[in-house]
Amino acid sequence: MKTMQRAVAFPSIAGAQLKSTPIPFKSCVKILPNSSSLTLPRNAGLPPSDAIPATVFAAEPPDASVVVLISLYSPVAVSSSIIVITPLFRACFCRNSSSTKLNTSTIEFPIPKTSYLLMINTRKIIVDLLTKTLHGHFVDDCINKDERIAGLSQRDKNFIRASLLTTLRHLGEIDHFLTSYTKDKENILRVGVAQIKFMGMPKYAVIDEMVGLVEAKKYRAFLNTVLRKSAKKMLVRNPQLNYPKWMRGSWKKAYGAEKAQSMMEIMITEPDYIDLSYKGGKSERILKPPRVEKIDGYAEGEWWVQDKSQRFAVEIMGDIAGKKILDMCAAPGGKTAQLIDSGAIVTALDASEKRIEVLRENLARLKMECEVICADARDFSAEKYDIILLDAPCTATGTIRRHPEMLYQKNVEDVQKMNAIQSELLGSAYNLLKDNGILVYSTCSLQYEEGEGLMKKQTKWELLEEKRILPCDVEDGIAGAYIAKLKKL
Ligand SMILES: C[S@@+](CC[C@H](N)C(=O)[O-])C[C@H]1O[C@@H](n2cnc3c(N)ncnc32)[C@H](O)[C@@H]1O
Repeated sequence: MKTMQRAVAFPSIAGAQLKSTPIPFKSCVKILPNSSSLTLPRNAGLPPSDAIPATVFAAEPPDASVVVLISLYSPVAVSSSIIVITPLFRACFCRNSSSTKLNTSTIEFPIPKTSYLLMINTRKIIVDLLTKTLHGHFVDDCINKDERIAGLSQRDKNFIRASLLTTLRHLGEIDHFLTSYTKDKENILRVGVAQIKFMGMPKYAVIDEMVGLVEAKKYRAFLNTVLRKSAKKMLVRNPQLNYPKWMRGSWKKAYGAEKAQSMMEIMITEPDYIDLSYKGGKSERILKPPRVEKIDGYAEGEWWVQDKSQRFAVEIMGDIAGKKILDMCAAPGGKTAQLIDSGAIVTALDASEKRIEVLRENLARLKMECEVICADARDFSAEKYDIILLDAPCTATGTIRRHPEMLYQKNVEDVQKMNAIQSELLGSAYNLLKDNGILVYSTCSLQYEEGEGLMKKQTKWELLEEKRILPCDVEDGIAGAYIAKLKKL
């Protein structure tokens, strides 16, 4: 067991929690002292099926050992993972797969004497990522970039994602609830309460895991007390608490108290649908969808994911076959695909190189082609267009349901900043459009100032039609959006 106690630092898996003391495996795993193998028994703590997912990390630590990760399941949920680092695994696993399912009652892994065991605790990752998202990072970026997550099983990943999103969606209610017990709104406490009160996880398991994350005795006692007390008390629901005051106020003013309340209720629930746009103009909502890659027609490029509300910006244009259209803020390309599919001659422009790359990949999967340019639309010049689509950068408050971190990242100043960019882009669109040409301006913001308010200030455009979509307008929900069809005067 001595070898397990040695601390090592592997930059390629930086941030993973390396335990310097023996790892509390409970009865899940037996490490035989001085033995050359690790045995995973089928009973005690393993999933009901025989399948134990084992994932080989792509990353290799500097000593060129291969990192192998085995996810272990507690009866509650995936709680921890072990990484065994051993050069021998290169031969065993690394050759062909990045994810191997093992069907066996016990698995014997050779471990050389110099191996190390590294424990990745999924709850530790959730708490870390909550801190990051509250400091301005996007949930998807955090999950995609965290090296500790890369090699985890899909079940682990789903657990991390669900816990993080649930905590963010209900953070206002959780903080309010915790006020009766403590002034400290520690992220460990927040995640613990989210898992007990909003994810229905067994309280003792959650408390054990959360308390196990910290070393200091005094702090462990504090966490234990607060979580135990809070587990016993009912949390009275009040969805409004999850929204910043300025946001609540702006929606009440723009749409009335009743609509604002309905929006706020639906936007903190998990969306259990995706909308697909098919080639040929059809669209479909899939409830309780599997992963997109598993839906029929993905590899063949028969459809793309596009929220229903996002289709209107192109539909409002009418018949556009043969029209020369500039998609001015195009990436990742949902509306570009729709424009191409409708027979237009499209130029897709976007200022972000990264996002343009994603647009190219999306069009390639769909087997669609158009002119693609990476440039700032404010400096762009070209022969004039019949129609321009300005799907403008915005505060994106209409997408809070899928991106609840925005509740903590957006403020009133952002609305003003976005308004300034939107006005500049409207100016560029004016110069790039033929006389009497049509501009469709759209945003996925729920802020009046970025939609109706901005249009009211325009003097060089005639407003032909406008449409406001609120998240509560459709039973299962829909992303918020604003669309205006304008004629150049
Ligand atoms: C709302 S997103 C566009 C979504 C896209 N139309 C779709 O349907 O998939 C806004 C886009 O504007 C781009 N953008 C922001 N400022 C820009 C500028 N000055 N010039 C061109 N593109 C810009 C961003 O990179 C971002 O991709």
